[in-house]
Amino acid sequence: MKIKTICVVGAGLMGHQIALQAAISGFESFCTDTSEAALQKAQDFALDWIKKNQEKGKIDENEADAIKKRLTFTSDLESAACGADLVIEAIVEILAVKRELFARLDKICPPHTILATNSSYLVSSKIADATSRPDKVLNMHFFNPALIMKLVEVVQGPHVSDQTVETVMEVSRALGKVPTRVNKEIYGFVANRVFSAITQEACYMLDQGVASVEDIDNAVRFGLGHPMGPFALLDLVGIDLEYDVRMARYQETGLAQDKPSPALVARFAADNFGRKSGKGFYDYKK
Ligand code: NAI
Repeated sequence: MKIKTICVVGAGLMGHQIALQAAISGFESFCTDTSEAALQKAQDFALDWIKKNQEKGKIDENEADAIKKRLTFTSDLESAACGADLVIEAIVEILAVKRELFARLDKICPPHTILATNSSYLVSSKIADATSRPDKVLNMHFFNPALIMKLVEVVQGPHVSDQTVETVMEVSRALGKVPTRVNKEIYGFVANRVFSAITQEACYMLDQGVASVEDIDNAVRFGLGHPMGPFALLDLVGIDLEYDVRMARYQETGLAQDKPSPALVARFAADNFGRKSGKGFYDYKK
């Protein structure tokens, strides 16, 4: 199936850049949100991106106009989604809200439309049965910032057809991304699982007094060739986000290995969330 029109639902941190990326890559792109303020911010960001890239000579006037023409912002879900071949949901991480949205999309969209969720942790099998087309409901997981990060994880739950996966892999490539096919639904998918294992081990070593924050980061950077150490990366992602994700997982599994480490808990409790609050594992006020 050829995808021509993409609708992104949710114009927040992830959605606004996914919708812009779709328009840049030549798709007819609709961006919708229940919040007018979020839509305005997304539109301002897109216009600013187009202006800056035109000034830098990266796109010419014709391309700038074409991207603007291909990108529509509207709070009307029905008009945004009714002509879409692919819908990418990027709304709040609450299962009941996502299920309600997918049930609505199922009624609005034509039968061929693929309904994807950008969720990092909710697998599509928890959502698919809210629709009449489970074979066309899957996780299409972008990374932040979506305009820059190349990876898209395409996850094939047991209900998803091969054709749906192949179409979404192809669209991801057309969006300039590198898709990874994940053959099974697994908590955290691939990249976040690896990141989680590294950060948990780094925190464990810090708690045990094995090495300092700086030395563990240096070992990972200069020994393993990672561009950033795990603590610098946690400060960037947000210690509050990491704490919430770990705590939710721990409450679900009850396994000691999933429990947030004392190093993480102490910083979370002191409101030291990382770069955004000026202090985390590193002090950014200095
Ligand atoms: P966000 O909070 O920045 O944006 C969510 C947007 O959805 C808000 O603008 C909100 O007004 C809108 N919204 C809420 N309910 C809605 C509804 N029923 N209909 C339409 N719009 C609605 O959230 P963010 O960070 O962009 O995350 C969105 C999704 O993307 C989540 O599922 C998250 O797991 C996933 N994700 C987040 C990443 C991140 O680094 N923040 C990375 C990859 C995936």
